[in-house]
Amino acid sequence: MITGATGQIGSAVLRLAAANPNLDVVGAVRSAEKAETLGFPAVLLDFDRPETLAPALEGVDRVFLMTGYTIRMFRQNRDFLNAARRADVEHIVHLGAPGDDDTPVEHWLWHQFIERYIEWSGFSFTHLRPEIFMQNLLGYGGVRVIVNGVIRHYVANARLTWIDGEDIAAVAVESLSKPEEHAEKTYRLGSDVRSYAEIAEILTRVIGQPFAYEARPPNEFLAAALAAGADTAYMQSAYENYAAYTAGTNRGEEKLFSSFVDVTGRKAASVEDFIRRHHDAFSY
Ligand SMILES: NC(=O)c1ccc[n+]([C@@H]2O[C@H](COP(=O)([O-])OP(=O)(O)OC[C@H]3O[C@@H](n4cnc5c(N)ncnc54)[C@H](OP(=O)(O)O)[C@@H]3O)[C@@H](O)[C@H]2O)c1
Repeated sequence: MITGATGQIGSAVLRLAAANPNLDVVGAVRSAEKAETLGFPAVLLDFDRPETLAPALEGVDRVFLMTGYTIRMFRQNRDFLNAARRADVEHIVHLGAPGDDDTPVEHWLWHQFIERYIEWSGFSFTHLRPEIFMQNLLGYGGVRVIVNGVIRHYVANARLTWIDGEDIAAVAVESLSKPEEHAEKTYRLGSDVRSYAEIAEILTRVIGQPFAYEARPPNEFLAAALAAGADTAYMQSAYENYAAYTAGTNRGEEKLFSSFVDVTGRKAASVEDFIRRHHDAFSY
């Protein structure tokens, strides 16, 4: 079962998993309309409607589990994992967040508590800890971050570690298809380190139009996110993270990880590869 099957990472996991002859997949979606348009076998599952969990989990042995962008993720995961245990699910591949075990970033730490709950529940598990999604360069929460060649962000000149969502999905599918090989593993995923100014330079060279980075104050991000109705606790944590980058006090920057190549035997996408693949979406 692939949860978040209509989302960025879940949809990529579903597509790759459906193409894997060792897997018999079902995507979990929130409505009958979404089930109809998914293009893959689907079940109805809403993390906020506990009565949907047991029927959706019938016959499922492995799960790609993603939640997030809201503090409700704690209750959602507890209910889901309790139901999964009752349904005799064996292996959970969890989409987590960046960070060392002592990360100061609260919403990253929330994901680590979910990891601990998965372990405590007795599942075999693979924990994915991706760094920043390259997909954010296309848009974030439905909002474009690059408009007419101007990248607006809130992390000053911090150099961030990036990973392509397609590469996260590839590791997830490897883990789902060979759980015994990937059990009890935590895979940190990050393949390129770039500041937004460096990304603007790459865009300018690859797209052939001018791009520039404009560092904005983090409180502007918080005001816009809350005005758009985003989860207060999550966005407060994201804001504090951006503020720490802007102040230069964040730890854990500039880390690269070999998990992708170790698991897939392939080279991970660089930011430049990603920009080339999405050329038309970046040109203006
Ligand atoms: N962005 C980053 O750089 C980054 C980096 C590291 C980790 N992460 C983590 O990655 C996760 C987000 O992944 P994503 O970008 O793939 O998310 P996404 O594109 O926003 O997709 C969210 C998915 O969850 C589904 N969903 C939402 N509420 C649900 C509910 N109550 N019941 C069932 N399904 C529900 C949505 O379904 P609908 O179509 O019905 O809305 C959608 O399929 C978060 O946990 C975040 O912390 C993000």
